[in-house]
Amino acid sequence: MPAMSARVQTQFRGETGDLAHRVPILEKLAPAHFEQERAKIFRRAWLPVAHASDVPEPGSYLVRNLPTLQTSLLVARGRDGQVRSFHNVCTHRGNKLVREGHGCRRQFSCGFHGWTFSPEGELLVVTDEHQFQDLDKASLGLRPVHTEVWEDLVFVNVEPEPREPLRAWLGELAGDYGGYFARHVRASSNRVIVKCNWNLCVNSFTEGYHTLYIHRNSVPDYQGGTINPQRHRPLMQMFRRHHRYSAPANPDHVLTPAEALAVKYGRKILPAFDGDMTGMPPGVNPARYEHWAFDVVQFFPNVVILFGNHWHIELFFWPVDATTTEVVQDFWFYTPATIGERVSHQFFLSRGRQVFLEDLTTLEAQQEMLSSGALTHPQLSRQEMSLQHRYKVTQEMLAAP
Ligand code: FES
Ligand SMILES: [Fe+2]
Repeated sequence: MPAMSARVQTQFRGETGDLAHRVPILEKLAPAHFEQERAKIFRRAWLPVAHASDVPEPGSYLVRNLPTLQTSLLVARGRDGQVRSFHNVCTHRGNKLVREGHGCRRQFSCGFHGWTFSPEGELLVVTDEHQFQDLDKASLGLRPVHTEVWEDLVFVNVEPEPREPLRAWLGELAGDYGGYFARHVRASSNRVIVKCNWNLCVNSFTEGYHTLYIHRNSVPDYQGGTINPQRHRPLMQMFRRHHRYSAPANPDHVLTPAEALAVKYGRKILPAFDGDMTGMPPGVNPARYEHWAFDVVQFFPNVVILFGNHWHIELFFWPVDATTTEVVQDFWFYTPATIGERVSHQFFLSRGRQVFLEDLTTLEAQQEMLSSGALTHPQLSRQEMSLQHRYKVTQEMLAAP
């Protein structure tokens, strides 16, 4: 289904026939709808909550508070090297076992009465144990949550028995990124709370239609150019749950003086791919498009990752309630080997932050106006097909028994 009148035509792959291009948005913003999403999407999905590299050694742990799931998780690497997650609750009287943060410990002791657990979750010590009757210590370990690691991402599933293993959930994406994440280190993390429904938040990061307008001052000509003035995506793929598209670089872009300096001392991060595909796994620039900039992949339901060469950006959208969302944006860059590369990173970080802030600027305004009810069915273009696809997957999950 090529887009007519485009000099670059979008190649669509996957099921595109039954997508709705008018979305009944008002019902999706209602608190009751969000409770459905919480129960049937978030409580059934595999969700990335951490990185395996965040818990590098036996005993390494981190606390992940997840208001979306109404719990806090303790993610820990055991002495056997395995990464596990637990509800962060002491099995004596329910105190929150580790209040916050991350680190490395041989054991976790509750601050209330001193019960102590291993990084594998076993109950090791009950203080003044003889005062308890019929105590079955073996059954009083930390409450586990299903945890699987894919590449560097730690996914959890809070169902008692997940409906499918992580690899099936990831589907076509599972084998596409071998070794990719290991090449990058986290360079910066930004966290904001926005008064906006989480669906609107995700939707602002999964189409390129807006880039000509909202980013016209910060990054006016990174994408498109004379061969592709409307910046049509060269490739869009609909998977069973997730989707992926490639963003088009502008072959006519002339480096600004600041960009020229940044790429003199470091690698090209943006505006354009440096053309070096060595070591790029098959999922990155899957069409091997010549004027490629980066890919955008939505891991249903709430994570978007921008895959570049030498860098990637991770975006997490955690709904707190129907109108409040925590947005976390992490930049990951190639490991800098020199001071020059560090300076180069700082340039790309500051510009990346500017672009991110611009993306955030419409969220609360959209929330305000859509909840007025004046516009009930927004229209979506084919360049916004990822949104159409996402609403279809959402409906499927909500309709499941
Ligand atoms: S609640 Fe943790 S030891 Fe009592
Ligand atoms: Fe944007």
